[in-house]
Amino acid sequence: MFVCLIAASAAAQTPQTIPFSAAQPVLNTYLKTLPPALKPDGEPTAAAWDVWARSNDQEIRARVERGEEDTLTNLLRLGVTYTKEERISYAYLLRFGHDSYVDSLAGKRADNLIRALAAPHPSEGMTDMRNFLQKQGFDVNTPAGRAKLKTYMLADLARMRDEVMHAQKEIYEKKGANLSQQFKDRGISTDSNLYPDYMIDLHLRNMIAKSLLKPDGIHRVAIVGPGLDFVNKNEGSDFYPPQTTQPFAVIDTLARLNLADPNAVEVTTFDISSRVNKHLARARAQAAAGKWYTIQLLSSPSDQWSQDYATGFLEYWQKLGSEIGKPAPKISVPQAASGIWNRAVAIRPDVVLHVTPIDMNVVFQTISLPADKQFDLIIGTNIFVYYASLEQSLARANLGTMIRPGGFLISNEQLPNTAPSPLTDSLQTSVTVSPSDTEYMYTYARQK
Ligand SMILES: C[S@@+](CC[C@H](N)C(=O)[O-])C[C@H]1O[C@@H](n2cnc3c(N)ncnc32)[C@H](O)[C@@H]1O
Repeated sequence: MFVCLIAASAAAQTPQTIPFSAAQPVLNTYLKTLPPALKPDGEPTAAAWDVWARSNDQEIRARVERGEEDTLTNLLRLGVTYTKEERISYAYLLRFGHDSYVDSLAGKRADNLIRALAAPHPSEGMTDMRNFLQKQGFDVNTPAGRAKLKTYMLADLARMRDEVMHAQKEIYEKKGANLSQQFKDRGISTDSNLYPDYMIDLHLRNMIAKSLLKPDGIHRVAIVGPGLDFVNKNEGSDFYPPQTTQPFAVIDTLARLNLADPNAVEVTTFDISSRVNKHLARARAQAAAGKWYTIQLLSSPSDQWSQDYATGFLEYWQKLGSEIGKPAPKISVPQAASGIWNRAVAIRPDVVLHVTPIDMNVVFQTISLPADKQFDLIIGTNIFVYYASLEQSLARANLGTMIRPGGFLISNEQLPNTAPSPLTDSLQTSVTVSPSDTEYMYTYARQK
């Protein structure tokens, strides 16, 4: 009996392709623009859906590999552990290929990075990058292999320059561009930082103010795409090991706002990156052996920030972690990255053990949950931006089935509301970060 119960609960946690009956209403909404493979006789069929969903799941997962290239290129631009050369800011990046100073800087950085990648006993982040390159067939141990790698790295820097230029054009020139789908054609990056976590904190406060959330009302939370912070594109760096902050920042905020008991709240993470899932599984295994999970809390305050944003963020940053851990020795910031501020916090093992990672693609896969195991809250930031409307609508409808009636999905991306979904549009929070940047958070509510 006991064995059966364990087997049943494990099966419930094994993601399955979204059943055709659940996907069909969304597919019908997009009938005219559906790929022909999905509607062999003019209409979507269960068999076509099954094949299409599985092959698109594989394609999405292949985009995570392309996202690893972004991490490598951010390491080339911003890393400070392997070189004394200046960092390649966005301003420099845009001049790459047209400015001899920047070109020579990029060349020297590439040489130094390749040397570090070939060195014995590289750091955890450098090891991840070396493994990625080995999988791509690069050999850092021969002069020919290193030359090939340098060419590849510099070509990828040019690719990133072109993407940034294109994104700037979309934002400034193409009025009405859908910024919530800005990365739909890009590799899927795992990069992360604390700024979305602060927006979640502000948005939850707004939900409390609007009486959408009650004290101690949250027991089960899912985080879609928790990510890994290592040389994130926004002034990140490589002097700290890859780390996952979002699940812990969320538990800390929920506790501070009296929305959840940090010793009891259950957090499930859904991610398609094996690096993210393995990282969290390792943190759990170490927590089971009594080890605290230490995270570096990095921020890069800007003089462009509005007064309100600067005050609010810095207050949030100072307190972050106090509900679930204790201050820990920080890794000091190298001179070359001196714009970054750091403090560190060690998270209690019992809190880490309440976080369960699941490998699931929320666009095409689902888990079936009994009513008493549905989530009170699902959070996804900087994940839906990688998808176009059809995929966003599939994810919205799918996540809605895992949320209890009266529960919520919150995201910083605006999801289409044209297809049937258990979730309706609810609250929006907007925050002026700087004269050129306003950030948004949206609530989608599961009808009672
Ligand atoms: C850019 S990171 C965002 C990390 C963090 N949420 C933040 O805002 O800083 C995107 C994360 O979403 C994950 N992801 C992307 N598409 C996904 C999908 N369809 N299902 C589950 N996870 C996905 C990626 O692997 C990655 O960990």
